[in-house]
Amino acid sequence: MSTVIQLIEAGAKLLTQGGVAFGHGTTNAFDEAAWLVLWRLKLPLHDLDAVAEREVSPADAQRVGALLQERIDTRLPAAYLTREAWLQGVPFFVDQRAIVPRSFIAELLADGTIDPWLGEHTRRVLDLCTGNGSLAVLAAMAYPDVQVDAADLSTAALEVAAINVTRHELDSRITLLQSDGLADVRGPYDLILCNPPYVNAQSMDALPAEYRAEPELALAGGTDGMDFIRGLLAAAPGCLSDNGVLVLEIGNEREHFEAAFPQLEVVWLATSAGEDQVLLLTRENLA
Ligand SMILES: C[S@@+](CC[C@H](N)C(=O)[O-])C[C@H]1O[C@@H](n2cnc3c(N)ncnc32)[C@H](O)[C@@H]1O
Repeated sequence: MSTVIQLIEAGAKLLTQGGVAFGHGTTNAFDEAAWLVLWRLKLPLHDLDAVAEREVSPADAQRVGALLQERIDTRLPAAYLTREAWLQGVPFFVDQRAIVPRSFIAELLADGTIDPWLGEHTRRVLDLCTGNGSLAVLAAMAYPDVQVDAADLSTAALEVAAINVTRHELDSRITLLQSDGLADVRGPYDLILCNPPYVNAQSMDALPAEYRAEPELALAGGTDGMDFIRGLLAAAPGCLSDNGVLVLEIGNEREHFEAAFPQLEVVWLATSAGEDQVLLLTRENLA
């Protein structure tokens, strides 16, 4: 009989040989294999050491093999196979109606980086482009006194967000809204979080299959990646309170961002992805 760790090591080899792409919750073959093996065996995902040497029956090993093969054959991100993604230790339901959540803004909500711009006045938060609702849920958890609006253009994504809001018992604190950008939200907000579609056209063309399995609306930001962000920055002052701030994720698009908004004074917020993927703008800066 194989052990759990043997299945994971063999699975990692298979995934590498299969040429799958990572980036939807893991960054390498071992972690991805561990996720799939542990999930399939219904073992806790975050304590491999405790179960590594456990023996696995041939029937279960076969089920694990089938899941790894499905990952390779379909090129679907693991989260779409398990229907679950984790962010800051919090589980979220996900399926192909919404992008797999992986926003670095989640780190900032957990580690208090944004807190110096918040205070007693912070009552109303907007998670714009909410996708599966994960940032809205994490914001509601981080700031127990705020009300959160969570907006998206996609009704399909909002259906997924509704599942997560209810799963985390936050229906009384999070309101889901369909809105094209800021057009139909109910400001003013003291904090706007936004992980928008920002991938430039050239990068879109080069995306691995795993990313093409996600809704294009969630990723594509036009020629320079800034299509959505241009409208957002123009409309944001009208939706922020006097002390309000916008926290915006732009991925690897700093060059395009600075070319599009050369005059804008921004505060870059450090995350595990580096110091130029998430920025903060005050209403004053924007106006
Ligand atoms: C990068 S995903 C972020 C999802 C989620 N916040 C997260 O971090 O996982 C961008 C989201 O923006 C939504 N979106 C795209 N265009 C939009 C628009 N014009 N107005 C509102 N939402 C939009 C997409 O449906 C998608 O859910």
